[in-house]
Amino acid sequence: MVEKEFVIGVTGASGACYARRLLEVLCTNSKVHIIISDVGCQIAAHENVSLNGFNATYHAIDRIAAPIASGSHRFDGMVIIPCSAKTLAAISTGYADNLITRTADVCLKEHRTCILVTRETPLSKIHLRNMLSAEDAGATIMPACPGFYHNPKTIDNLVDMVVARVLDHLNVEHNLIKRWSGYDA
Ligand SMILES: Cc1cc2nc3c(=O)[nH]c(=O)nc-3n(C[C@H](O)[C@H](O)[C@H](O)COP(=O)(O)O)c2cc1C
Repeated sequence: MVEKEFVIGVTGASGACYARRLLEVLCTNSKVHIIISDVGCQIAAHENVSLNGFNATYHAIDRIAAPIASGSHRFDGMVIIPCSAKTLAAISTGYADNLITRTADVCLKEHRTCILVTRETPLSKIHLRNMLSAEDAGATIMPACPGFYHNPKTIDNLVDMVVARVLDHLNVEHNLIKRWSGYDA
C-alpha cells in the first residue's frame, strides 16, 4: 500500500489538543509535515499540549520555499487544526504570506483535500463570509464542534469526536469512536 502524505497546520486558536490527537493517529500510518504558527505555539504551551516529538517533518512557518509550498510536490491533503479566524481570512482571500497559508493555497489550486478546523464563537458576518468563500474554493469547513450523542465521559472523548470526522474526510481508517447505528444499538 502506498503511504499517504499529509500536511498539518496548527494556528493560534484554542484547541491544540485536537492537533495533538490527529498527529497521534496520522504519524503512525502516514508521512506527515507539521507547521505551527507563532501564536499556535504560544497557545499550545498555555493549554499544556506538547506538539513535539512526532515522527514527522517539522517546518518553520516562514520557510516559504519548503517543497510542500509548491504544487509540484504531491501530497494527499492538508488539515489546519485548530484554524484561527485570521488564517481562515487569509486562505479565503488567497493571502499566502506564510507556509501554512501558502500550502493551503496550493492545496486549493491543485484541488486537494483542505480541511479547516475553525474555532471561534460567536461568528461575525466576516467569519461566515470567509467560511463560505473558502468552501466555494474547495476547502472543507469543519468547526471544532463535537456532538454529544455518543455520551462522552471525558474531554478525550470529545476531542476524538472531532478528530474522527477529520480522519474520515482524509480517508484514513481509525477506531476513535463507535459509529452511530441507531438509538437501540
Ligand atoms: C490565548 C489566545 C487564544 C486565542 N483563541 C483564538 C480562537 O479560539 N480563535 C481565533 O480565531 N483566534 C484566537 N486567538 C487570536 C489569534 O491567535 C490571532 O488572531 C492570531 O493573529 C492568529 O494568527 P495565526 O493564525 O497566524 O496563528 C487567540 C489568541 C490568544 C492569545
